[in-house]
Amino acid sequence: MANVYVLDHPLIQHKLAILRSKDTPVKEFRELVGEIAGLMCYEATRNLPTKEVKVETPITTATCRMLAGKKMAIVPILRAGLGMVDSMVALIPSAKIGHIGLYRDPETHKPVEYYCKLPDDIGNRQVFVVDPMLATGGSAIAAIDFLKQHGCKQIIMMNIIGCPEGVKAVTAAHPDVDIYLAALDEKLNDRAYIVPGLGDAGDRIFGTK
Ligand code: PRP
Ligand code: URA
Repeated sequence: MANVYVLDHPLIQHKLAILRSKDTPVKEFRELVGEIAGLMCYEATRNLPTKEVKVETPITTATCRMLAGKKMAIVPILRAGLGMVDSMVALIPSAKIGHIGLYRDPETHKPVEYYCKLPDDIGNRQVFVVDPMLATGGSAIAAIDFLKQHGCKQIIMMNIIGCPEGVKAVTAAHPDVDIYLAALDEKLNDRAYIVPGLGDAGDRIFGTK
């Protein structure tokens, strides 16, 4: 069964409080999304396997640990997921990046696919799917379905804000995928927006409204 982690670190929670405010302007919103993603990445990579290595320091031989598992890939769900990529790549510079373009139909709230481009060897990589919002879960499920069709077996989902409806849907569809959130909010409203949430993440990152 999937694990759902809500990251209650004070720095994450402080930045999230500013992110939620309707008065936070686009520039600051965009910076905060990146900063929160970087802090979440630190936790979401906590269980990656490591191996022992010997390193010659100027003084002596040190026994150290380095990452031992699969190579990694970061897959943002467009558009809003793009805001989380740079800070993750800063921490995992060797990661490849795939893109999955989905938007929610305003009437049905179902995801509509419009773009996909993945690294050739994505099936052999530990994948981090990133998107600030997990609302109905439709976009996350569609993205994970697509990645599994391309052979991905190790997938971690990172969302800044989720809600019970989205978590339930994703964990039912993909019980093997762990979910990392900065907050698990109360519910969806009748337009399938998260309450209290932060509004439309894509519009707030890109200033389109
Ligand atoms: C938002 C968000 C997620 C999706 C979540 O994207 O970034 O991708 O909605 O909703 P769901 O869980 O109900 O599928 P949106 O479709 O608004 O597109 P955008 O990023 O281009 O603004
Ligand atoms: N997408 C968003 O950007 N915000 C929500 O609250 C729900 C879906």
